[in-house]
Amino acid sequence: MPPKYKAPRGTQDVLPQESRRWQGLEAAFREVCRRYAYQEIRTPLFEETELFSRGVGEGTELVHKQMYTFQDQGGRSLTLRAEGTAPVVRAYLEHNLGAVGGTQKLYYICPIFRYERPQAGRYRQHHQLGVEAIGSPRPEIDAEVIALFHDFLGEIKLEGAVTHLSSIGCPACRPALSEALRAFFAPHIGEMCEFCQARYESNPLRILDCKVPEDVELRAGAPSALDHLCEGCREHFGGVRAALDALHIPYEVDPTIVRGLDYYSRTAFEVIHPGLGAKDVLMGGGRYDGLAEMLGGPSTPGIGFGSGVERLLLLMEGSLVAGWEPAPRLDVYIAAASVEARQPAALLAAELRRAGVSVGLDFTNRSLKAQMREAARLGARFAALLGEDELRANTVTLRDMESGEQESVPRAELGARLRDRSS
Ligand code: HAM
Repeated sequence: MPPKYKAPRGTQDVLPQESRRWQGLEAAFREVCRRYAYQEIRTPLFEETELFSRGVGEGTELVHKQMYTFQDQGGRSLTLRAEGTAPVVRAYLEHNLGAVGGTQKLYYICPIFRYERPQAGRYRQHHQLGVEAIGSPRPEIDAEVIALFHDFLGEIKLEGAVTHLSSIGCPACRPALSEALRAFFAPHIGEMCEFCQARYESNPLRILDCKVPEDVELRAGAPSALDHLCEGCREHFGGVRAALDALHIPYEVDPTIVRGLDYYSRTAFEVIHPGLGAKDVLMGGGRYDGLAEMLGGPSTPGIGFGSGVERLLLLMEGSLVAGWEPAPRLDVYIAAASVEARQPAALLAAELRRAGVSVGLDFTNRSLKAQMREAARLGARFAALLGEDELRANTVTLRDMESGEQESVPRAELGARLRDRSS
């Protein structure tokens, strides 16, 4: 009979075999963040809905169609974390993290919820690893954030990714760009989807981000933000490029980048990989100098990125992150040869575990033979057999699971022996 319940559409279970790959990837990311002096931040799984509608923008696809919004018993409108940046900036403002001065460099690895059409590499619950560097307007920090991800890809030995870089300008450059876009799209208003017809008036930049196929066609040859940068943004973009060049980080200038969230200004980037579908991006990010103010705080520059963990793992196929233990090995499996030996076996397991040894034990009254099979399945380095003779002599019969060699070891010496030999 098929199971009655399944994981909700667009979500997945990470089973033990797979969770080791997650742990490896997360450990590699934490390690690279440590080298770059980023510290971990953890924000709640849900936030006030307004945080996203304000921060990310009412006109965006994310806020408009993809949020998991609900009312709690107290009548508050809450939304499952729809992206990572607005919550981090909210926490930064709430806890006055800027008080210490300088740049706050934060990282996170967390689930994100978006009501999307599920397919390979696109889920309703996905996970992002990301960083946010808050407090510096300098182009060098933009380069550092991009370099951090570049180093992370090196750390996990993922090749073939290409960094696309652009600047989408600031509020000062927007009017000229909006005008140019309106002029470009004016002959086609009637052909655009109803949302884009509204966007034409409110924020024509968003038309560039529409997923409706007809609208995608319409925008071929549309003017780009890069051609309409104000003096300050042009200089900043030049600074980012120079800083990346100085660090020998490869990138391509790509004026077609339109980030899907309203808080972006100036630097915008995406990392793409041929192993993903054409629409799917491996990592996306940029500068959000206006976000803190939009959320009611003082003007505070910031930049960061988010990258989908599932997409990273998809590209790495079955491989384990380099240097990560392929299978956690059990130090010893204690096999009880009789019913009488079960309780002493449990006591021995407890003693060994307190001494730092990993121990497997049977809980289903299986035969000695079945217990030995289980020991092999779990990859135990040793099996410790406990029967009548051993109980009497206060020993165990220790079997090396690889060589099959057996010897009698006094119980008192077992912990030290296992710690020595399993290391
Ligand atoms: P985003 O481009 O919406 O940016 O998402 C970042 C990354 O998350 C994407 O490049 C992709 O790898 C992954 N991703 C997004 N949606 C899905 C999905 N449905 N299934 C699987 N993976 C997905 C942000 O969220 C910004 N907060 C990034 C940022 C941080 N900007 C500045 N700081």
